[in-house]
Amino acid sequence: MLEKSFCMIKPDGLARDLEKEILKRIELTGLRIEASRSVALTPAEAAELYQPHAGKPFYDGLIKFITSGPVTVCQIAGEDAIARLRQLMGATDPRAAAAGTIRGDLREADVIGEHGTIKNLIHGSDSPESARRELAIFFG
Ligand code: RTP
Ligand code: MG
Repeated sequence: MLEKSFCMIKPDGLARDLEKEILKRIELTGLRIEASRSVALTPAEAAELYQPHAGKPFYDGLIKFITSGPVTVCQIAGEDAIARLRQLMGATDPRAAAAGTIRGDLREADVIGEHGTIKNLIHGSDSPESARRELAIFFG
């Protein structure tokens, strides 16, 4: 099914100058980057994006991490874009992410950031509902 997904290169990805590499991998897998821009998330935008995680133990650290520097937000499109992007990203914890995935191949030695959050370079929507909600925040 032709789908759209939301993708975000996290502050660790930009700080390590991996934006081009990550976008190239997304395009090489056959997905289209329909729009992208670099932004500094406001605390309100970060809270809206990660609203489903509110109250979890890692939530406060996640908000601090995600607002610690610029991010690049993207609208992605293609056949089964949501699942294919998630597959390309790899497991949440880069230490468990397979070779060939963005998180697996590009992880840094110490993946736990100063706020106790897992630094894993990229966010991708996990369902069609999430994709609609997340795209509306940045590409509404
Ligand atoms: P994302 O939403 O960023 O695409 O990542 P995900 O689906 O693979 O993982 P999710 O469970 O949605 O968690 C969101 C982000 O929160 C941070 N996290 N840290 N310290 C921890 O145990 C922990 N758990 C999650 C990660 O940055 C994760 O990507
Ligand atoms: Mg998630």
